[in-house]
Amino acid sequence: MKAILVDPSTSGNPLRWDDVPDPKSGAGEVLVDVHATAVNRADLLQRAGAYPPPPGAPEYLGLEMAGVISEAGATVGEWQPGDRVCALLAGGGYAEQVAVPHPLLLRLPDEWDFIRGAGLMEVFLTAFVNLFMEADLREGETVLIHGGASGVGTAAIQLAREAGCRCLATAGTPEKVARCRELGADVAVNYREEDFGAALAGEVVDVILDIGGADYLQRNVELLNLRGRLVVIALLTGATGSLDLAALQRKRLRVIGSVLRNRTLEEKAEIVRAFRNRFWPALIDGRAAPVIDSVLPITAADQAHQILADNRNVGKVILTVRDAAG
Ligand SMILES: NC(=O)c1ccc[n+]([C@@H]2O[C@H](COP(=O)([O-])OP(=O)(O)OC[C@H]3O[C@@H](n4cnc5c(N)ncnc54)[C@H](OP(=O)(O)O)[C@@H]3O)[C@@H](O)[C@H]2O)c1
Repeated sequence: MKAILVDPSTSGNPLRWDDVPDPKSGAGEVLVDVHATAVNRADLLQRAGAYPPPPGAPEYLGLEMAGVISEAGATVGEWQPGDRVCALLAGGGYAEQVAVPHPLLLRLPDEWDFIRGAGLMEVFLTAFVNLFMEADLREGETVLIHGGASGVGTAAIQLAREAGCRCLATAGTPEKVARCRELGADVAVNYREEDFGAALAGEVVDVILDIGGADYLQRNVELLNLRGRLVVIALLTGATGSLDLAALQRKRLRVIGSVLRNRTLEEKAEIVRAFRNRFWPALIDGRAAPVIDSVLPITAADQAHQILADNRNVGKVILTVRDAAG
């Protein structure tokens, strides 16, 4: 089959679509013909050599995909060849085929194309696990979502709205701020034009989904209400900050660090199951949906990465591998 390979010996670590060995499915796995995959910020880090795949994961980029099962062994439950699916991956989505543990599959509704399916899993599951499993966000609470126009942010705003929460967001351009409001944010702040801490000072914030890290830490802690929860999922301004432990103690705050990719299969399976039980009806009804920024062929993976590197996307950048309309 073909997959995207990274060339670390050349400046910029260019990507190329080239021949690689066919994957084999192990016990409890299905083999899927990939129709579309999607770009995540983590792919840019992996390409740069800063985010290696966890042990046992395929070496190729790609944390999610949608496609059609081509082979299903005996121990994969309900799944059969011909089933249209999307899946969370530990790697290997930028390829013609990938082996997937069956608990990480969701069935694509008939009316969904592979593009919508490909942009779903990584960002909706990241938003879900961090807001609802890690931070225990409850109906009626207020949540602040940093990077509201990112893939994860667009999913998080929709899930928070669906859960009956007041939703605040930050984003870096007027257009992104407007998109956050369209998706359901009650308040959206352009953090490049005004200080988000000052702009949101009157809010009583229960949960923050943070991608800022170091430079955001003090303002996040100041904004949090009694028993507030700060979930750090990325460190875009740096990894080391100064934490006001007195505020932490006084307000009984919890600071939670979280990654999805390196969790065990059992943990991921539980996240997929809990997400399906709670939010699948909203996705089927169209009350929530992946926000698709752009669609490019897999051979244009370099250009697709550049869209994320330039912070130009709102939501997901999709890469098509086969016919993605079906
Ligand atoms: N821990 C986990 O399990 C996990 C899982 C998935 C994703 N993530 C992380 O979550 C973040 C969102 O992921 P994604 O794939 O949805 O990303 P994405 O679509 O590429 O969006 C990232 C956005 O972050 C904002 N940004 C970039 N540099 C920034 C900076 N220095 N300060 C503040 N904001 C900055 C930009 O939006 P503006 O133009 O609005 O600034 C950019 O568009 C990424 O950092 C990713 O690594 C973590």
